[in-house]
Amino acid sequence: MGQRIAVGKLADIPVGGNIVVTIGKKDVAVFNVKGELFAVDDLCPHMGASLSGGHVDDGCITCPWHYWRFRLSDGAWADSPRVKTGWYPVHVVGDDVQLEMPE
Ligand code: FES
Repeated sequence: MGQRIAVGKLADIPVGGNIVVTIGKKDVAVFNVKGELFAVDDLCPHMGASLSGGHVDDGCITCPWHYWRFRLSDGAWADSPRVKTGWYPVHVVGDDVQLEMPE
């Protein structure tokens, strides 16, 4: 189990929207998909686009530059799941949104 870090309030992330939070040197995008929250690295591992500017559909975030699709359930590249981007469990405690980050 990793370290939990509070990143905002549930109301800060509207359904269908996202926020980007900086944790250490890492930007993490937190998506609200129909009331369920998912967190992945904002930096696309292909060429560095911001995944928060992408399109969410069918359980994936599609990068806005070259349309690689990453599963929100585990950060895997949908076309080749051995390739993964950073993915983090999200916990909602009361109104607080917490990310579980590796130690
Ligand atoms: S930068 Fe994301 S697919 Fe190319």
